[in-house]
Amino acid sequence: MGFNLAAHVRAGLPNPAPAPFKGFAPYYFIGGNNAGEALPIPELIDAATRALEKEGRNLAIYNLQTGPQGYRPLREWLVKRLKSWCQMDVTVDNILLTSGSLQALDLVHQVLLDPGDVVVVEGGTYGGTMSRLKDSKAEYVGVAMDDDGIIPAELEKVLAQIKAQGKRCKYVYTIPTVQNPTGTIMSLERRHALLEIARKHDLMIFEDDCYADLIWTGKRPPSIYSLDTEGRVVYCGSFSKSIAPALRVGYLVAKWDFIAQALPCKTDAGSGALEQTTLAMFCEQHFDAHVAKLTALFKQKCDAIQDALHESFGTAAEFRPPEGGIFIWVTVPEEVDTTKLAQAAAAAGVAINPGREWVADPESGKHSFRLCFGQPSFEQIKVGVAKLAEVCHEQFGVPLRSGNIERS
Ligand SMILES: Cc1ncc(COP(=O)(O)O)c(C=O)c1O
Repeated sequence: MGFNLAAHVRAGLPNPAPAPFKGFAPYYFIGGNNAGEALPIPELIDAATRALEKEGRNLAIYNLQTGPQGYRPLREWLVKRLKSWCQMDVTVDNILLTSGSLQALDLVHQVLLDPGDVVVVEGGTYGGTMSRLKDSKAEYVGVAMDDDGIIPAELEKVLAQIKAQGKRCKYVYTIPTVQNPTGTIMSLERRHALLEIARKHDLMIFEDDCYADLIWTGKRPPSIYSLDTEGRVVYCGSFSKSIAPALRVGYLVAKWDFIAQALPCKTDAGSGALEQTTLAMFCEQHFDAHVAKLTALFKQKCDAIQDALHESFGTAAEFRPPEGGIFIWVTVPEEVDTTKLAQAAAAAGVAINPGREWVADPESGKHSFRLCFGQPSFEQIKVGVAKLAEVCHEQFGVPLRSGNIERS
């Protein structure tokens, strides 16, 4: 009998990867990627050169001699940015640089969650968070939102249900500023209401501000973290969406007592230093101008994808124009099952996120899908959405005829 790996691996592993990477679909509307054409390559080359000149020899030392929280000058820059953009009063000691904000999510889960704990998430939320919560054996439950964010009365109802089941809610996970997947921004009033409810029930809030740099108007409400006086809120952000996801640099922001608990859980001996030093050099000089340019490009792509949806789906595709970011959440008539649509579209070279993977209650996402527009070109957006409508028409008769502008 030959060797059988399956007989050796631990119980409860996630499903194995389907196959080694074979490249992206030609029309790739998933994955939260950035726009390669907008990357400021000369400025990054200059920043990387200066970083190596200044810190090159320190690469010989774990953590570059600036401690396990990450490269200090980048944390110093973040202190200024978080103050001016999010109204947060923090010091370098409140910031832990991580390998993408995904590592920040992992650390928060590791610090806070016991098996069986419940996390309240927004009704539509980031698939990566839900899969992690499943792996950590915590439960999650969705709460209804509207265009202003989590609805306070609905949150109270959900918390009462959790209590009635004898379970404990540890925290509310929210993506308040350019929500994933809806692209909405939580109002200031709702931010206060959420904090008030958290105080009343003695919960923590985990604020994921991963897309908050990319807002069309260039204006945003203060972070929930900045409104909290007690240390009830932990916050994460990322350079993935503002600069480049392959750099893998994110950050966790919290009061020192939380950082002190998270640090021993971060067992990788430090996140990549060349990325952190390069970012420190780059951001000091170029971050604001770059983000303004990038956001303008994303707004154009966002307009282009809305035009393409109108053109190819007509009234069969409903969506709310996003307020920033790199994705749009689309709802189609109930005869369309978007999980099946995603499979058929993949066969035609169009990759989309079926709604079920982006909502807490899978049934509620059955007729929705998410399209990321950051990476594809304008041409790919136009042609890809037209192909998607074609597939949808073939499979479900919706839109009535491909390219029509009426649903019925
Ligand atoms: C809401 C949200 N949080 C966190 C992440 C993780 O991003 P990264 O690890 O690249 O910072 C993503 C990625 O798409 C996201 O959408």
